[in-house]
Amino acid sequence: MKRYLGGRIIVQRGDITQLAVDAIVNAANNTLSGGGGVDGAIHRGAGPLLADACRALGGCRTGEAKITRGFRLPAKHVIHTVGPIWEDGRHGEDDLLARAYDNTLKVALENGIRTIAFPCISTGAYRFPAERASEIAVGVVTSFIDTHDGIEQVIFCCFNEDDYELYIEAVEQFV
Ligand code: APR
Repeated sequence: MKRYLGGRIIVQRGDITQLAVDAIVNAANNTLSGGGGVDGAIHRGAGPLLADACRALGGCRTGEAKITRGFRLPAKHVIHTVGPIWEDGRHGEDDLLARAYDNTLKVALENGIRTIAFPCISTGAYRFPAERASEIAVGVVTSFIDTHDGIEQVIFCCFNEDDYELYIEAVEQFV
C-alpha cells in the first residue's frame, strides 16, 4: 500500500468488496443488472437486495453514475458507473472514462461520502488500455479532490500487480 498527500490518496492491491469505506465504485454496464468482473463480485458480496435496488434505477448511461446502499458489503454505499467500451480511442473513450470518474465523485459529494474506493474502470471486459486509463483516473481524481474538501480519501484498489505498479507511477506524476 502507498499513501500520498497525507493519506488523501491511497494506492493498494486487493479486492474492493472487502473495503469498509463510505462507498465503493462499481464498473457496471448500462443495464445495471450485474455481470462478471468487479460487478459480479460486488453483487455477490452485497446479496440479492442490490439487484433489486439497481432495477429501480432504470439503467445508467455511459459516463454517468448512480448510488445504492451497500447492503451486506462492508462499504455503506455502492456508486455504479459505466465506463466506455474501448474501440480504437477515436470514439470519445478518454472523455467518457474521465466523465465516469468525475460524475462518480459528484454523486459521492452530493451524498456526504468522504471515503471512496475505485476499481480500474473499463480496463477488464471493456478492454480500455490500462496505462492510459490510470492516467485519466488519477488526473480526474487529483483535480477533483484539490477543489473539493468533502472527499477525504480516495483509494485506487488494484486487483492485480500490474495495475498497482501503473497507479503508483501515475500518482507520482500528478502529486
Ligand atoms: N476488486 C477490485 N477490482 C476487481 C475485482 C475486485 N473484486 N474484480 C475484478 N477487478 C478488476 C479487474 O481486474 C479490472 O482491472 O476490475 C477492473 C475492471 O474490470 P471489469 O470488472 O471487467 O470492468 P470493465 O472493464 O469496466 O467492464 C465492465 O464487465 O462484468 C461486466 O457488468 C460489467 O458489463 C460490464 C463490464
